[in-house]
Amino acid sequence: MARKIALITGGGDCPGINAFLASAVRRGSSEYGAEFVGIRNAFSGLADDDPEKYLMPLHNENVIGLENRSSTILDSSRFNPFTEDNLARGYPQKILANLEKMGIDGILGTGGNDTILSAQRFESLGLPTVMAPKSIDNDVSGTDVMLGFRTAIYFGAQAARSTADSARAHRRISVVEVMGRQAGWLALEIGVASGADLITIPERPVDLNEFCSAVKRIYSKYNCANLVIAEGTSIQYEDPVIKRAREESGVVRALLEETPELDAFGNPKLGGISQILRRVLKIELGLKKIEEIRSTDLGFTLRGLAPQADDIILGLRFGIKAADILLGEKRTGLMVGIDGLEIVDVPYEEALKPKTVNRSDRELAALGVFISSS
Ligand code: F6P
Repeated sequence: MARKIALITGGGDCPGINAFLASAVRRGSSEYGAEFVGIRNAFSGLADDDPEKYLMPLHNENVIGLENRSSTILDSSRFNPFTEDNLARGYPQKILANLEKMGIDGILGTGGNDTILSAQRFESLGLPTVMAPKSIDNDVSGTDVMLGFRTAIYFGAQAARSTADSARAHRRISVVEVMGRQAGWLALEIGVASGADLITIPERPVDLNEFCSAVKRIYSKYNCANLVIAEGTSIQYEDPVIKRAREESGVVRALLEETPELDAFGNPKLGGISQILRRVLKIELGLKKIEEIRSTDLGFTLRGLAPQADDIILGLRFGIKAADILLGEKRTGLMVGIDGLEIVDVPYEEALKPKTVNRSDRELAALGVFISSS
């Protein structure tokens, strides 16, 4: 009997997701005669009282050209059916019942660590799932690279180099902030590719006194300084430099007093460190005007991009592999990935090991990453 498969795209959007969807539909329908329905808003749509509202039938004809499109046509959510409250409300069982009512007997999807964790939990409840890794953070194991990362680097490096060239012309300090949560891959590769003077990543704590002295040396020598800062860079609230900034700047006080919300998976909502560092640097370098330091938060500009070739190709390859695994080999509970040039699959347990920057201090320092002496 032909399989009916739901396609979902959970978590942060990114380039390449639509290439996966197009490829999974083409491969699954032509090779295995499967029927596909996209579910908008991922597990949130599946958990609705009327999930049919979120259905988007996908077939060969309506996925033509889909691989080039930005973000995800299925929208997304960070809905977590397995929080204590949602478990008590019976959401996992409601989702399974909704899937059964719609005649759906498996899920193919894209996700980062959180969506893959939900897929793993549904797998343990007997729902066949296969996932493809996507996130501009590039922070799951079992794959050299996740969908979206390469396009984010390509665009982010151009944007950061543009701010660097402008800072040079105006003898300014430029602070570019990028996402990445607790992984510094985005900041590292955008910083290196854009010729940043200093890069900060979450994996290397920053002694602000040393950091400001390093910026001061660069600024004095070159009349400009280009910094790429990961949103998850760890600065200590009790750091004397932060204490001085809190005393002298109402903006720093306000930003530090904003307690970041947690998302449904307990991730703090980051963002804004570049605004704090602007004021810290103005104070510590004794600059007269704040506009001598400009900040640019690339944030979501890296999420909604149309995919470059690398991510189109990766998404198409992931889609073929995922359809082959679920529909041809009838294996489940697996994440597809790329190992060198080969498309592979790994159990969710392997994928869910966090992948943070694991390079040596020696190489990172040579690439411009700020490494505190202590
Ligand atoms: O996980 C990808 C990501 O872009 C992170 O880098 C960022 O911190 C987070 O999503 C932002 O989450 P949201 O889109 O829910 O604001």
